[in-house]
Amino acid sequence: MTSPDHLDLPPLLGAAGRVRLPGSKSISNRLLLLAALADGSTRIDGLLDSDDTRVMLDALRTLGVALERGDDGSCTVHGCGGLLPVRSADLFLGNAGTALRPLTAALALAGGDWRVRGVARMHERPIGDLVDALRGIGCAIDYLGNPGYPPLAIGHGAPRLDAPLRVRGDVSSQFLSALLLALPLLRCAHDVAIEVVGELISRPYVDLTLRLLARFGVDVRVEGWKRFIVPAGSRYRSPGRIAVEGDASSASYFLAAGVLGGGHGAAVRVEGVDAQSIQGDVAFARVLQQLGADIGWGEGWIEARGLRPGVRALAGGDLDCVAIPDAAMTLAVTALFAAAPTRLLGIGSWRVKETDRIAAMATELRKLGALVDCGDDWMRVQPLADRDWRSASIATYDDHRMAMCFSLASFGPADIRIEDPGCVAKTFPGYFDAFARIAKPVPVIAIDGPTASGKGTVAAHVASALGFGYLDSGVLYRVCALQALRRGVALDNAEALAALAADLPVRCAGAGVWLGDEDVALAIRGEAVGQAASRVAVLPSVRSALLARQRSLRRAPGLVADGRDMGTVVFPDAQLKVFLGASVSARAERRYKQLISQGISITLDDVRQDLEQRDARDSNRTVAALRPAVDALQLDNSELDVEQTVRQVLQWWGRQALG
Ligand code: C5P
Repeated sequence: MTSPDHLDLPPLLGAAGRVRLPGSKSISNRLLLLAALADGSTRIDGLLDSDDTRVMLDALRTLGVALERGDDGSCTVHGCGGLLPVRSADLFLGNAGTALRPLTAALALAGGDWRVRGVARMHERPIGDLVDALRGIGCAIDYLGNPGYPPLAIGHGAPRLDAPLRVRGDVSSQFLSALLLALPLLRCAHDVAIEVVGELISRPYVDLTLRLLARFGVDVRVEGWKRFIVPAGSRYRSPGRIAVEGDASSASYFLAAGVLGGGHGAAVRVEGVDAQSIQGDVAFARVLQQLGADIGWGEGWIEARGLRPGVRALAGGDLDCVAIPDAAMTLAVTALFAAAPTRLLGIGSWRVKETDRIAAMATELRKLGALVDCGDDWMRVQPLADRDWRSASIATYDDHRMAMCFSLASFGPADIRIEDPGCVAKTFPGYFDAFARIAKPVPVIAIDGPTASGKGTVAAHVASALGFGYLDSGVLYRVCALQALRRGVALDNAEALAALAADLPVRCAGAGVWLGDEDVALAIRGEAVGQAASRVAVLPSVRSALLARQRSLRRAPGLVADGRDMGTVVFPDAQLKVFLGASVSARAERRYKQLISQGISITLDDVRQDLEQRDARDSNRTVAALRPAVDALQLDNSELDVEQTVRQVLQWWGRQALG
C-alpha cells in the first residue's frame, strides 16, 4: 500500500466525539511474548494491529510458536511451555524496541544460534546495558555492528544465576522489563534477584510488566524499586483469556484535542482506558487536570471537556515527565497554547527513542514560530501568541508520535502539513482518520461560478451575516495581472508570473484592495485587467503560488470564499459548496450596469462578448477549470435578486450546520 508523502490539516475550530482506542502497544507485545513462553494456550482480545505488533508476531512464528488470528482482532497463542521449538533463527525486528529488547533477553537465556537486527535507526538505539547484564550472568552475546548497539549474535551461553543480575535503569526501563519477562523461562529452582543500578526511569512501564507477569502466574517481589526477586520455581501459566487495554499513549492526542477544542458542551471521549488502567500514561489525563483541563472519568472511558470554568488557558510551569515519557511529547505541543512557558523535565529517554525526540521536537516546534530551549533531559516551550504562529511543514522522522502530536498544532492559526503521515502505522494505522472524525475544522463556504454570476456580492453578504471572513479570490488574480501589465511581464511568461504572484504585496481591508501602499480596488475592475487576469489564471504555476495564501485566510470563526475553484481545489473539504450560475444575458446586463455606475464607458455587446470569452477560457483551461464540485449545490439566480440568493445560501448553511 502506498501512503501519501504529506497530509495537510485544516485549521480547527473545535473537537468533539468518541474514539475507540486501538490496543496498547506495550501490553500487546508483552502479552504475545508471555503467551508464547507459557504453558497452555492464550486467547488475547483486542490485540493492537500495527507495525510493531506485526514484527513481534512474525518473530514468534519464526521461533516456531503456533498462532492464530481471529477476525475479531483476537489472537490465540499456543505457548511453548518455556521450550522454543526452534534453536536458531535470524530475526528482523524493524524499529520495535518492545520486540527487540525482550526477545534478546529471552533468546540469550534460552541459548541457541540467533541473530537479531532491525532498521538503521534500531541500530542507533543503545542496548549495551541489557547486553552487559546478560553477559554478567554468562550469556553469549556479540555485537555484529557497533559495540553497544544491535545487530546482535546470540549463542549458547551458560547462564549462572547464583549471584544477582545487575542492570542499569536510567537509560531505558525496557532493559529491566526485558529481563523480568525472560527470567521465568529458566524455571530456576531458587529465587533470582535483579538489582537496578542508577535511578530507575519510566517506572510505570516496569509496573505494567510486573502486573502482566502476575496474570501469567509469576509474582515478582519488589524491594524499593531497586531489587526485583523472581521467586523459585516461577513459570508462566496461561490465564486462558486476556484482554488488551486501549493504548493510553494514543489516548493523549485525543484528550489534548478535547482540551484545546472542547468546552461549551463539546467533549472528546476516549474508550478503552480508565482510572483503573495499568498503563502509566493514563497519568497524562491527571496532568491535564492539574493544568486546568476539565477531565471526566468513567468505567472504560476518559473524557476531556475543554478547560474548567474560569480557566482561560492551560497553566505552564515545571512538569516532571519521568513517568510519562511518551505522553510528555503531547505536552510539548499543548504547551504552545498554555498561559505561561512549560518546562518538561526528566525526558532524557527521548534521545534514544524512534528518533532523538528532544532534537526533533525542538526543530519542529521552532518551525511553528515557538521559542524552545532544551538540554540533555529537559525542554522549555514558550506559548505562541496568535500573531506569532507560522504555517509549517512538519517533518516526522519516521516517528509515529511526532506525526500524532503535531496534528494538535492545527488548533493554532496556521496551516499544518504533516510529512510522511503513514509513519503512524507503527502503533496506530488509523490515527488520522480517527483524528478527522473528532476534529471540527474552521468552516468554509465555497461559492464558485462564472464571471458576473453575482457570487462576489452574495459571498460578501453571507460572510457579514455569519460574522465570517471573506475571500474574493478573483482579486488575487486581478492584482497579479495588474502588476504584470504595469511591469511589462508577458502574460504567458509562467515563471516570471509565478514569482510575481508568490511575492505579491496584496492586502484586502474592507472595500479597499492594497497593492503595497496603493489602493487598487478600482484599477483592478477594468475589463482589460479582467481579461488579463483570466489569462494569468490559466497558468498552473501562478495558481499554485496563490494557493497557500488563499488557504491561510481560513481562520475562526469561518470563511466565505468566492471564485472558480474554491470548492474543487482550494477548499475541497468546504462544509458548504455553492455553484452560482445565471444566463449569459442576465450576467451581461448586471456587469454592464455595474461598469456604467463606476463611470466606465462600454457597450452591452462588448460586455457580453468579454463574458463569453472569459467563460470559455475559465472552463476550458487544464487546471482548476470552472466547473461545479461534485458535491456543490447549484443555484441559477437569473431570476433572483441578491437578497433572495443570499437567503437561499444561508438556508443551506443553516441546514448543513444542523445536520
Ligand atoms: O472573479 P473575477 O472576475 O474577479 O476573477 C478574475 C479572473 O480570475 C477570472 O476570470 C478567472 O479567470 C480568474 N479566477 C480564477 N480562479 C478563481 C478566481 C478568479 O481562475 N478562484
